[in-house]
Amino acid sequence: MVDDRTHDELIQEQFSQQAAMWDSYIRSGGNEDVLSWNIGKLELTPDMRVLDVAAGTGVLARAMAVRVAEAVAVDVTPEMVAQGRQLAASEGLSNVTFDEGDARNLPYDDARFDVVTCRLAMHQFEDPRRCLQELVRVCRPGGQVAIIDITTADDPTTAETHNRLERLRDPSHTNALTANQLQGMAEGCGLDIVDASYFEVERNLESWMDMTQTPSESRTTILEELQRELGGGSDTGMYPYLEDGHFMFKHRWAMLVGRRA
Ligand SMILES: C[S@@+](CC[C@H](N)C(=O)[O-])C[C@H]1O[C@@H](n2cnc3c(N)ncnc32)[C@H](O)[C@@H]1O
Repeated sequence: MVDDRTHDELIQEQFSQQAAMWDSYIRSGGNEDVLSWNIGKLELTPDMRVLDVAAGTGVLARAMAVRVAEAVAVDVTPEMVAQGRQLAASEGLSNVTFDEGDARNLPYDDARFDVVTCRLAMHQFEDPRRCLQELVRVCRPGGQVAIIDITTADDPTTAETHNRLERLRDPSHTNALTANQLQGMAEGCGLDIVDASYFEVERNLESWMDMTQTPSESRTTILEELQRELGGGSDTGMYPYLEDGHFMFKHRWAMLVGRRA
């Protein structure tokens, strides 16, 4: 079947339906360790103004807010922004603002922020380089830009399989890049990389597919391909394994912190 929805429509569809559940999902299991890792790699001081791009419910923006003067979270999906605002209010955070906006054309002046982050979203962008250029544009010279995302395998065939399975699960996924590709892109956009670190996150296959309401036909295909790898078949780039009768796999995350030259 041909899918004629535009990428922007796929993003809206996917993340409007994920919005209500997103915060509890992304704060459960090993995800709190991911957040601590992210925060620990940033230099944050009480006088700073920070921006989190494609922020979703602002998990990272809210965690930064308690350490800085002002945090702004921007996301293109209104339902995510609305959830983020409610959560920040319920946490009594008065220094976080949530804006609707597109990473391709950020609604902020040049050099407005000391720190600009983008977490778990590069693989959703059709033009990640353009978005990264925008992140760099709104960061002040000498400020920090952090790109945090899942990565794919260096082997192109494995990377192709991995991204195909990710798209089967969530049609708004474009391409996870390799760690080297992310770094090359960041340097090409004028960042001096001052820190590169990596983190493995264990995922339960069923709850991962529940989150995106993956149709049963696609679920079956994904499961079969991972089972084949477990049985000695070719590499899917998803590192599948079984734990207590549950089908699990791993996401390899990278976090690159660069200084704007
Ligand atoms: C997987 S969620 C990650 C949310 C958040 N960064 C986090 O770490 O919890 C991806 C987010 O990217 C947003 N997004 C996708 N494309 C975007 C774009 N072009 N501009 C702004 N936000 C975008 C989606 O609306 C969604 O909230």
